[in-house]
Amino acid sequence: MHANGPVTHGVIDAIPVKLPGLRVVLTFLLGAGVFCATSLAASGAPGSETPAKDAAHVDFVGAESCATCHEAVAKGFASNPHTKMALMHGNGNVTCESCHGPGGEHVAGGGDTTKIFDPAKAATKDVDEKCLSCHAGAHPNFARSPHAKAGVGCISCHDIHNSKEEPLLKAAQPGLCFQCHTDTKPQFAMPFHHKVNEGLIQCSDCHDVHGTFEENNLKSTADQNAICTRCHTEVRGPFVFEHAPVKAEGCMACHTPHGSQNARMLNMPTISTLCNQCHSPVAAATVHGIDAGSASATPCISCHTMVHGSNVSQAFIR
Ligand code: HEC
Ligand code: HEC
Ligand code: HEC
Ligand code: HEC
Ligand code: HEC
Ligand code: HEC
Ligand code: HEC
Ligand code: HEC
Ligand code: HEC
Ligand code: HEC
Repeated sequence: MHANGPVTHGVIDAIPVKLPGLRVVLTFLLGAGVFCATSLAASGAPGSETPAKDAAHVDFVGAESCATCHEAVAKGFASNPHTKMALMHGNGNVTCESCHGPGGEHVAGGGDTTKIFDPAKAATKDVDEKCLSCHAGAHPNFARSPHAKAGVGCISCHDIHNSKEEPLLKAAQPGLCFQCHTDTKPQFAMPFHHKVNEGLIQCSDCHDVHGTFEENNLKSTADQNAICTRCHTEVRGPFVFEHAPVKAEGCMACHTPHGSQNARMLNMPTISTLCNQCHSPVAAATVHGIDAGSASATPCISCHTMVHGSNVSQAFIR
């Protein structure tokens, strides 16, 4: 029963970390866990003077005890990923008390609701801390995320006991996101858009809602292009002749990410206005001998077909 406390946490901590070194880390922590268990058992022996540790353990009653009064919740929990994963590692469960804290006083009080940690009533930050005590490995940047800063916590999006959506979500994407991001929703209904509503790609292909080092929760470690070129490999380069803004300013110099009124999700209604933001129409006219600024002119990309960069032409001509 004592093993349900911090000792189990130490071991589980490593599980969500999906890194190559996982096995090494896990082995190490398992070792550490056994060591801790041994030392805790020793310090808990009669005559030992460590009341703090005793107090932390004495209150755990075990999941079987919770089940006697919370039968429905406990049943649902048997098919919950928290239990499955813990069993897989043969290592005791993530139990009720891993999240709700020691239940001894709650049980002794016949279900005294003031003596149990109830995430639904607790401060967002305290709940997040509890979850992150195990999940910080996979989500180390949550505290710096715009969500955390705005007080959107784990259980704003996740539902531990009643979820019907993987992974333990309150609702599936993109509906979950649109509950709050009502401004974003219409962008995906524009004539040209990434097919998120159609299920072809997901918000989380580009964003990590748990926080990143980028603006807008964007997934990428190096430059903003990385998320886009993960799928659009043909524009990734490197090219012998790079079009400077593709690398310097990124895809957003010319495209919108969600949706647009303009074909190819361009951020300008005509090609010439797009190009002429940076290329002076006067200069272009001089070079081409055409009224490059007018909409009736041959679109720039009729000739400059390789606008993302080229291996053969400095002027991006085929
Ligand atoms: C003796 C019966 C009993 C046992 C055993 C028991 N509970 Fe409860 N629990 C109750 C009652 C009664 C309530 C209040 C009514 C309700 O909301 O279901 C309650 C409420 C709760 C709540 C909600 C608190 C709130 O703020 O409304 C949580 C969370 C909870 N229990 C968790 C646990 C956990 C975890 C265990 C095992 C460590 C446990 N209970 C064991 C009877 C019990
Ligand atoms: C991974 C964390 C976690 C574990 C493990 C967990 N719970 Fe919960 N529990 C929560 C959260 C979060 C809530 C608040 C849910 C909400 O937002 O309404 C909650 C709510 C509850 C409630 C009150 C609401 C309700 O549905 O009646 C009870 C009772 C409860 N849990 C009992 C249990 C029992 C019994 C177990 C073990 C079988 C358990 N919990 C395991 C996180 C957990
Ligand atoms: C005692 C450690 C522990 C605590 C506390 C904990 N979890 Fe977990 N959680 C796990 C383990 C272990 C798994 C199963 C392994 C996995 O899939 O990452 C898991 C699985 C999950 C999953 C599903 C992952 C998947 O891929 O299906 C979600 C979502 C999740 N936890 C959210 C939460 C939230 C939200 C809280 C806080 C209310 C919480 N967890 C608290 C250990 C914990
Ligand atoms: C704004 C909504 C939102 C918030 C807030 C949120 N999550 Fe998630 N979570 C998701 C979505 C959507 C997914 C599935 C897509 C993905 O993996 O990014 C997910 C996936 C997960 C997973 C499984 C996949 C993985 O990457 O390990 C875990 C575990 C998890 N979340 C835990 C947490 C914890 C812990 C917190 C709080 C610190 C939290 N989440 C906060 C929406 C959210
Ligand atoms: C419970 C409400 C809520 C849910 C659900 C939610 N968000 Fe958020 N989100 C917010 C708030 C509040 C902010 C911070 C304020 C803002 O920038 O709008 C935010 C910020 C963001 C940002 C950063 C915006 C910026 O200006 O930096 C992105 C990106 C984002 N959310 C994406 C998502 C995605 C994707 C989902 C679904 C998986 C989601 N959100 C679900 C409330 C929510
Ligand atoms: C193809 C990649 C991609 C997909 C899919 C995507 N986003 Fe974004 N999102 C971005 C990029 C890139 C930005 C930054 C835009 C900028 O820098 O001007 C952004 C910005 C945002 C912002 C903050 C700026 C704003 O427009 O309010 C929010 C909120 C947001 N996205 C939510 C979502 C939601 C919700 C979904 C799913 C319904 C989603 N995103 C799907 C790439 C994507
Ligand atoms: C997860 C994969 C994925 C990511 C990441 C992604 N896209 Fe896409 N993108 C697609 C798919 C699939 C289509 C084609 C959708 C369709 O058939 O309508 C597409 C279409 C486009 C189109 C329109 C192409 C056309 O022929 O009209 C543009 C432009 C585009 N994406 C730009 C971007 C930008 C900019 C980013 C980064 C913010 C990005 N994409 C990130 C998958 C992705
Ligand atoms: C200097 C402006 C500019 C930048 C920067 C830019 N694009 Fe484009 N992109 C265009 C134009 C113009 C078109 C339309 C080409 C056409 O219709 O022939 C286009 C078309 C596309 C298409 C449709 C298929 C194709 O190749 O014609 C995709 C996908 C695309 N861009 C992705 C990206 C990605 C990903 C990035 C960032 C790495 C990016 N673009 C950066 C101007 C730009
Ligand atoms: C965000 C600014 C920006 C936009 C928009 C832009 N360009 Fe460029 N372009 C540049 C920069 C900067 C260079 C590098 C200029 C240099 O090295 O002298 C460049 C270089 C070029 C060159 C090669 C010039 C040379 O001789 O090296 C061509 C051709 C070109 N752009 C065509 C276009 C076309 C066509 C469009 C519209 C589809 C476009 N550009 C949109 C900034 C932009
Ligand atoms: C009829 C075909 C054609 C059209 C249309 C066209 N270009 Fe060009 N452009 C060329 C060719 C060919 C060159 C190469 C000239 C050279 O290498 O001397 C060139 C060169 C350039 C250069 C590099 C020359 C310099 O200034 O150093 C830029 C920038 C440029 N074009 C921008 C544009 C823009 C912007 C548009 C649309 C407003 C456009 N072009 C429309 C054929 C065209």
